[in-house]
Amino acid sequence: MSRRTNIVIVGGGLAGMAAAIEALRQTRHTAGITIELLEKEAHTGGNSAKASSGISGVLTRTQKNLGINDSIDAFFQDTIKSGRGRSNETLVQRLASESASAVFWLQNDFALDLDVIAQLGGHSFPRTHRRPDANGKPQPVGWGIVSALDKHLKEQAKKNGSCFRLTTGARVTKLLSTAGGRVSGIFYESIDPSTNTVVRHRCKCDVVVLATGGFGGEGGNPNFLKKYAPQLVGLPATNGPFAAGDGLRLATAVGAGLVDMDQIQVHPTGFVQARDPGNPTKFLAAEALRGEGGILLNGLGKRFVDELGTRDRVTTAITKYSAYLVLSQPVADSFGHGGLGFYEKMGLMNKASSVEELATAIRVELTTLNQTLTDYDKAREGRINDEFGKTAFPQSMLSKGGSGDESFYFWCIVTPSIHYTMGGLRFDENARVLASSGGQPIPGLLAAGEVTGGLHGANRLGGNSLLECIVYGRRAGRQAA
Ligand SMILES: Cc1cc2nc3c(=O)[nH]c(=O)nc-3n(C[C@H](O)[C@H](O)[C@H](O)COP(=O)(O)OP(=O)(O)OC[C@H]3O[C@@H](n4cnc5c(N)ncnc54)[C@H](O)[C@@H]3O)c2cc1C
Ligand SMILES: *[C@@H]1O[C@H](CO)[C@@H](O)[C@H](O)[C@H]1NC(C)=O
Ligand SMILES: *[C@@H]1O[C@H](CO)[C@@H](O)[C@H](O)[C@H]1NC(C)=O
Ligand SMILES: *[C@@H]1O[C@H](CO)[C@@H](O)[C@H](O)[C@H]1NC(C)=O
Ligand SMILES: *[C@@H]1O[C@H](CO)[C@@H](O)[C@H](O)[C@H]1NC(C)=O
Repeated sequence: MSRRTNIVIVGGGLAGMAAAIEALRQTRHTAGITIELLEKEAHTGGNSAKASSGISGVLTRTQKNLGINDSIDAFFQDTIKSGRGRSNETLVQRLASESASAVFWLQNDFALDLDVIAQLGGHSFPRTHRRPDANGKPQPVGWGIVSALDKHLKEQAKKNGSCFRLTTGARVTKLLSTAGGRVSGIFYESIDPSTNTVVRHRCKCDVVVLATGGFGGEGGNPNFLKKYAPQLVGLPATNGPFAAGDGLRLATAVGAGLVDMDQIQVHPTGFVQARDPGNPTKFLAAEALRGEGGILLNGLGKRFVDELGTRDRVTTAITKYSAYLVLSQPVADSFGHGGLGFYEKMGLMNKASSVEELATAIRVELTTLNQTLTDYDKAREGRINDEFGKTAFPQSMLSKGGSGDESFYFWCIVTPSIHYTMGGLRFDENARVLASSGGQPIPGLLAAGEVTGGLHGANRLGGNSLLECIVYGRRAGRQAA
């Protein structure tokens, strides 16, 4: 089957949906322009739907309401520092300076209550926004965002004479290009449910936006991982299996350049589920658990790292020790009991009703554990220097919070898991994909989100990925239009 449309967006995660919404907005008054979003899974959402810690942004309404004196420059510096000399400054500058409008877009246009803020590792201020519990129920941030955008897009698609089409179950397999090197269409496959056979479609177009996500979900079928980071093959991952690097294969086949492919983020805290410890797909223990003050203990009941250091540092430290993540009652209160209750129900998180019970549960000596918690609180009060150089201490480890008379603790076992691929397609600040030879934009080819590389360098900061999806996804939508 063959047809023609103007703009094709490949991938229905946050980057692809943001691109579609913006392209629609830009072309609303131009009759006849058609836009199509193709998603290979049965539903949109991708890894974006799994995000649990939040979206970073500075000078946002929420930061202002909370009196947080942050700045674009501080955000820029933190991100550059985390990338350790690999991040492109032009790309980072745009990310930081458009962060307020990205968060505002979600808050204003989609009525999302991103009013809880945490300071995640490597950030020098609290600036990662997520949603509060509603009536004791968690409102996971990634799920909330993609649901709102998905609803909006489906409404657009339903409108009479709509110029927008959203097709799920459609896997893009190839990009077409002209003799002159302009991308001019795609091939995609779908399953015909009546015959259960694969149908191949050809669709000519003017612009393709790739938003296919990363390759952290390759799992048992490692291709890019084997080539660029063989030492990580076999580690568990937090990604869905759809994150298999499709966009990288599609784009390199038409001459796109790759950058930083060996820079892969291993998240320090994938949950080890007691009833299924060997499962290669891990639920993520949200970074906000540490952001709100959770601490990491080794098998002796001692701390071993600044829990709010960048992810790569924390991961390296855990690889040496294996770890328990422990939350005191005040930490649990500020993280939110809705989310914790969910983790508990899933058998990921455990509760202990006292320091003694915690010591028994994690099989460490009570005196050692008590000492660890006491020292932590002393450092928090500025009475001693923290042994690991921690400077932000969100909550006390020994005092009770406001939610009850008894003090209690939450604890779990965590393990490093492949989480995010910093590398990907070379692109510029207008979301244009750059060629491997010469570095010129490939006409007709744009990209946004985790499929791109060069922005985060050696390490992505928490909350910066949802942000990049919106900043560069919208940029791609505008550029395409
Ligand atoms: C568990 C978890 C928690 C996270 N938490 C956070 C967080 O709190 N904050 C933060 O900033 N980041 C977080 N991240 C990272 C962030 O969620 C992702 O990096 C980001 O959402 C990627 O968005 P994307 O749109 O680029 O890709 P995705 O959301 O993964 O979407 C890509 C989509 O493209 C589709 N696709 C792929 N190939 C094809 C093809 N050939 N044809 C058609 N469709 C295709 C996929 O099926 C998928 O739906 C988290 C990641 C994980 C895994
Ligand atoms: C905010 O921080 C800047 C420097 O980062 C400082 O100059 C300014 O005085 C601070 N403002 C407030 C209100 O604290
Ligand atoms: C769409 O338009 C047609 C004719 O113009 C009309 O009959 C139909 O009811 C409309 N559908 C919706 C959902 O508005
Ligand atoms: C912890 O140590 C403090 C002081 O060292 C002591 O007062 C307290 O009783 C101890 N708590 C437990 C549970 O052992
Ligand atoms: C960063 O990207 C821009 C395009 O967005 C490019 O012009 C510039 O040369 C890049 N800088 C480096 C150091 O690669």
